[in-house]
Amino acid sequence: MTFVAKQYNLKHKIMDELQRCRQQTLTMLANVNPEVFKSQAHRDFSPVGWHFGHIAYIESLWLLKRCGHRDAIFPENTRLYAADGLPKSERVNLPSIEQTRDLLDSVRERVIKCLNNQDISAELMQFLLQHESQHGETILLVLKLLEKNHNCCAIFPNGRNSVNTSAREVKSELVDGDTMLKIPAGEFIMGSNDMRSLDNEKGEHRVYLDTYYIDAYPVTRGQFRKFMEAGGYENRELWSDSGWKWLQSERVNQPLYWCDCVAEDNHPVCGVSWYEAEAFAKFVGKRLPTEAEWEKAARWDADMQTSYTYPWGEAAPSQKYCNFNLAGLGTDENTLAHGTSPVNAHPDGKSPYGMYDALGNVWEWTASWFAPYPQFRPYPYPGYSQAYFDDKHRVLKGSSFATRQWSLRASFRNWYYPSVRQIFAGFRCAKSDDG
Ligand code: AVJ
Ligand code: FE
Repeated sequence: MTFVAKQYNLKHKIMDELQRCRQQTLTMLANVNPEVFKSQAHRDFSPVGWHFGHIAYIESLWLLKRCGHRDAIFPENTRLYAADGLPKSERVNLPSIEQTRDLLDSVRERVIKCLNNQDISAELMQFLLQHESQHGETILLVLKLLEKNHNCCAIFPNGRNSVNTSAREVKSELVDGDTMLKIPAGEFIMGSNDMRSLDNEKGEHRVYLDTYYIDAYPVTRGQFRKFMEAGGYENRELWSDSGWKWLQSERVNQPLYWCDCVAEDNHPVCGVSWYEAEAFAKFVGKRLPTEAEWEKAARWDADMQTSYTYPWGEAAPSQKYCNFNLAGLGTDENTLAHGTSPVNAHPDGKSPYGMYDALGNVWEWTASWFAPYPQFRPYPYPGYSQAYFDDKHRVLKGSSFATRQWSLRASFRNWYYPSVRQIFAGFRCAKSDDG
């Protein structure tokens, strides 16, 4: 096949994925009520209505205007929907749900017509697919923030508990927080050359790490309760200076998505800031892993001398391997999970070193600042990643129960301010090998 024919096929394949991703977005949009659509749940997050419009706006900007050489749609909305346009607090005067749906539909309709334009590359389409996919997760976490009672049992109580599959049953033995994996000294391959990878994760490169230990499982609620019961939130010694400062201003004494019900003691703790993760690690005499330590444990196969796309290898993600792609969206047989699952519920998804739940369930905070890899090149615009290489954002690895398949892979890097706890994030701990 010629290069042009290959590109053509590839682009049409990605278009099918974009349509599948859009189906999920539209189902969420159809289920939002007008009040929720424009509510700002938290000063750091835009209303969900903004996210739906922003998805259409970015697609129109890149696929229609910049690369399709067509007119962008609804140019009057540029300032509203640009990420660097209006402040988040002013993003409440939004077009209606119906207008937003029309915007999404008409942009997509025109994109399909100009897809064969040479300036639209498969790489650009991949970017848009992942852009929409990630905003889908943000929409879910904003919807969650708007729920009155955060301290409920399951994170999405009407969902997960009503579904009963073996992967979701609570395993009765409690996961032992002392179970750590020994990762022997040596090089591994970090980053990715995969076509799907985004600018910040691109470029395989070898990284040497000394021997270290990493938790086999994310930290569970049961383990975190011990920290709370031991007065972890009151003990100045467990907190860094910046962590203590954060704690004094936030005045919290439990994770955002806490629940005291012991039936979920094997679920990962969810809704903690980086500072809470740091304090817990100190409490148990450990530390947070660097992102390299996390990634090596999650995808390096020392026997094969290769890094896999997923902890379990190259097989396409499914609920057999991990808890991802929050269900209730009604579009896909595989989208059954609602909220967190026990950290030992997916043995088939283990990495070669034996790490559980590296993907799915909860994002995991790492000790690393978000910074460029050696071959970094901004794509498609510096505002996507480069703007955040500011030594103020910490890297999160893995993914959550709300992550769609298009952002699910072990090389993926997420980043947030260490003070953020409104995301579906937990952590696991590590330890150096000092004798
Ligand atoms: C990688 C999730 C931090 O939502 O700010 C979406 C992803 N970037 N549109 C974000 C993103 C531009 C980003 N995170
Ligand atoms: Fe965006």
